[in-house]
This record gives sequence, C-alpha cells and structure tokens, in this order.
Amino acid sequence: MKKILVTGGLGFIGSHTVVELQNEGFDVVIIDDLSNSSVDVLEGITSITGKIPLFEKLDLKEKSSVESFFQNHKDIVGVIHFAASKAVGESVEKPLDYYENNLNTLIYILKEVLNLNASNFIFSSSCTVYGQAEKMPITETAPIQAAESPYGNTKQIGEEIIRDTCNVKSELNAIALRYFNPIGAHPSAKIGELPIGVPQNLVPYITQTAAGLRACLSVFGNDYPTPDGTCIRDYIHVVDLAKAHVIALKRLVENKNASNFETFNIGTGVGSSVLEVINSFEKASGQSLNYKIAPRREGDVISAYAHTEKANTILGWKAQSSLDDAMQSAWDWEKHIRNI
Ligand code: UD1
Repeated sequence: MKKILVTGGLGFIGSHTVVELQNEGFDVVIIDDLSNSSVDVLEGITSITGKIPLFEKLDLKEKSSVESFFQNHKDIVGVIHFAASKAVGESVEKPLDYYENNLNTLIYILKEVLNLNASNFIFSSSCTVYGQAEKMPITETAPIQAAESPYGNTKQIGEEIIRDTCNVKSELNAIALRYFNPIGAHPSAKIGELPIGVPQNLVPYITQTAAGLRACLSVFGNDYPTPDGTCIRDYIHVVDLAKAHVIALKRLVENKNASNFETFNIGTGVGSSVLEVINSFEKASGQSLNYKIAPRREGDVISAYAHTEKANTILGWKAQSSLDDAMQSAWDWEKHIRNI
C-alpha cells in the first residue's frame, strides 16, 4: 500500500481528498492542528470509506515535531499539503501570522520531503494568483498579479518557493493546483464545509441563511460590468476538486509528469454570477432565499473562470458535477449538521 501524508486532512478540501485517496486504495496519514477543523471529521471519513485513516494532531509550525513525524514515517510516497490559514480579511489584520503559518510550515515540510525516497508533493494554490486577469477564461500562462492580500501573497510565494527548490533539486516532483471556488459537500452528507463563525464565502453564507442562522445574504454589488451586474466565479464541486488531487498525485507517483514543477487550473471552465448561484440554490432547496443588494466588497475581482484544457488533456481530469449538483450537496450537508 502506498502511504500518503495529507496535511490539513480534516479540513474542507482535505477531508474530501482523504476519502478519494482511500477509495483509490492509498494508505492515508493525516496531520491537522484542529485550528479550523474537528476530530469528528474522522468519523465521517471512516463511515464513507470503511477505513480509519491514521491521524496525528500536530502543529506544523513546530519544526522539531515535523522532523520527528517524518522520522516515524519514512515510507511516505507523496505529500498533499493543504494545511494553511485562508481567511483573506484576517490575513490583512495579521500578516505575520499568515506568513508564518503558510510559509514556515511549507519550508519545514519541503525539507523533509526532500529526505524521502519518493519526493512527490502537491500544493494547494489558488486562482487568486491571477488577480483580475485580462482575458477569460484564465490560462495557466496568464500573468501573476500583485497579490491583494497577505493570504494571496502566501500562495504566490509558496509557488515560488517550490519552483526555486525544484530548479535545484531534481529529485523533487511537485504540482501546484490552482483552485477556483470550491463549494458543495460529499453526496453522503457525512463530510462538508464547517466554517467557524460568520462565513466569509458565498455558498456557506447562503446555506446558513436558508437554515435560519443568518437573517439575510448581502449580494456584494450589482453594478459590475457583467450580464446581471453581479460578480462571476468558477464554482467547482469539492469532490471533483478532491479527485483532481488523486490524479495529480498518481501522475507524480507513476513518474508521468512532464517537468518537476507543474501548475494546473482546477475549475469547471464555466463562470456563474452571484445571482445564478442563488437561483441554483433556490432550485435545489425548493425555497426562496432572503437576500438584498449591498455595496461592493473591497478586493473582489469582477470575473474569474478557468481555462481547463491543460487539466483536461495533460492531467486527464475534468469536472463532472454541475453547479446545481454542488448546491444540492451543500444544502444536504447544511440540513444534516443543523438537524433540519
Ligand atoms: C475568496 C478569496 C480568495 C480565496 C477564496 C477561498 C476574497 C476577495 N477572495 O474568493 O482569495 O482563495 O475565497 O475560499 O476574499 N459574495 C456575496 N455575498 C457574500 C459572500 C460573497 O455577494 O456574503 C460574492 C462575492 O462578492 C464574490 C462571490 O460571492 O463575487 C464569491 O465570493 P467568495 O465565496 O467569498 O469567494 P471569492 O471572493 O471568489
């Protein structure tokens, strides 16, 4: 059995990826510091896959703990590194915490990955590296723009750290996956997104409003130069995104990568406006959503959706689920956790 380390494996995207890895026969060991996740997620993963992943609570900022972890797991053949802080607004307030948490940890892990017999590494990057791209859909060769926030900057610098290391360490094989907007939940409704406090992202805000936790969704701006005036994003079902990680990992494990550092956009290729997302939710849930038009949110780009040809043809991955499927699963999950 091939052993894979998943950092942040109890988080939203991490937990769905653990499920897909176990479904494909990989042995998974999870590291998570539980700062933005719950140990209960292990039960959901086990109930879906019939297999309990190994789990160690560990703070990746503690270099010596990372070193001793890898001493005990020399047989790891691949690392998928999700563990990171991801709240854009918070990163503006606490830049040093974000640089420490997202970059020091990356460096500590990469040093250990280089000591493994198989140095295969998948990095969680983001479409945020493109900023407001000039051309839609966005290809992987679109220019990287100055980051809007320390969070976004950690994704850009993270990619640079990996690229620079790959340049001099041919034994390191890495893929950065640039996610568009991950939404939805596992169709079993046993795992999903668990935002702490008031959600910052659109879909959990919608489902919490429908569940009665929030009074009303604010649509941030309807005067953008788009067909209905609201911003456009590429919403990707988290299970499709999780599968992209397994395919990327296999590409490295089977030595099929074309160079030792590759980047792929992971999106559907379809742009949807905020109002279209609301519409899709109303269809899935059979209820109307309480929302109002509010001022624009600072830092929002007008439009971002992926050119997916590179992922489709070279990686051999394509999103399968529609926006409606994703909204249905997000609502099923919200109902499950609220006992609705
Ligand atoms: C945000 C981050 C992005 C990060 C991603 C991680 C910003 C500016 N960008 O993406 O860097 O990688 O989360 O998940 O924060 N919206 C509303 N009302 C709401 C919430 C959102 O109208 O209450 C709108 C937004 O204006 C946007 C769309 O919904 O047009 C999606 O927003 P969101 O889910 O926050 O994702 P991004 O901003 O695209």
